[in-house]
Amino acid sequence: MNRRASNIFRRPGPQASQRLVDAAEGLEHARGLDHTIRLISSAVRRTLRPGPVKDTLHGVPFGHPAHPPLTDVPVGCWISAGVLDLLPGTGRAARILVAAGLAGAVPTALAGLSDWSALHREQQRVGLVHASGMLTASTLYSASLVARSRGREGTGRALGFAGLAALLAGGYLGGHLAFRLAAGANHADQVAHLVALGWHDLCPADDLPDGWPVHRRLGYISLFVLRTGDEIHVLADRCSHLAGPLHQGRIVTDDDAVVCVVCPWHGSTFRVVDGSVVHGPATGRQPSFESRVTEDGLVQVRPIG
Ligand code: FES
Repeated sequence: MNRRASNIFRRPGPQASQRLVDAAEGLEHARGLDHTIRLISSAVRRTLRPGPVKDTLHGVPFGHPAHPPLTDVPVGCWISAGVLDLLPGTGRAARILVAAGLAGAVPTALAGLSDWSALHREQQRVGLVHASGMLTASTLYSASLVARSRGREGTGRALGFAGLAALLAGGYLGGHLAFRLAAGANHADQVAHLVALGWHDLCPADDLPDGWPVHRRLGYISLFVLRTGDEIHVLADRCSHLAGPLHQGRIVTDDDAVVCVVCPWHGSTFRVVDGSVVHGPATGRQPSFESRVTEDGLVQVRPIG
């Protein structure tokens, strides 16, 4: 084969964009980060005890994670400051935006740290580097603000652009975490769409132990089933946080004496009657099913929708 023909069949090298994807995927398997992750996770868990503050940082009252929308403040302010830095006579406005971004970065980081402490290890590895990028950006913008406040506009702008580069790198990894690794996404929402409308036979009612959750299959869908006396509660078994098996969870009652299940993986707590979230890290309601018992003693379920 001549040289020209061999060039035609040569495998092309990876594009720059593919190298970026490969690098992000490589971080998922970077075991060298695990020791640091263990130290930080246990410190976060010791500091942020379960309760209203932690639930708010997760975003439980809002119905979805708080961290992603909070990032809009520092990211928006700092990108806007970068645009102003390219224009003459905008030093004061840029300085205010840098300071506003730093103020917004504090709750953003706390919410992110809280979410990160309850992720899978692969997600935590990417998340750690994402957080390092954002910490670097915050440090550079802090230095930029100090320089600008002392009248060193040129240095302040240069530090701002360095911070912007760190921000974009960290932001890319945040996207990888959210959209490739599905951190923060609802992992149970599809269940309600996979079951046809109408009633479906599930199992004999006599097979269900009283007060003890069990796992039942409806076709290929896994369901959490709990009988309490005459009532039968049915939820999707995949936890909306990260798909943990709810039927292996603890049964508790909340402050209003309503029966709840606690996910065995990260402690999300759902009311069994309707799947609503009592405690995070889950923020999405667990899909629930109506149930009834036929005259033949068969439990039937249908999706609520
Ligand atoms: S999978 Fe994380 S709390 Fe259920």
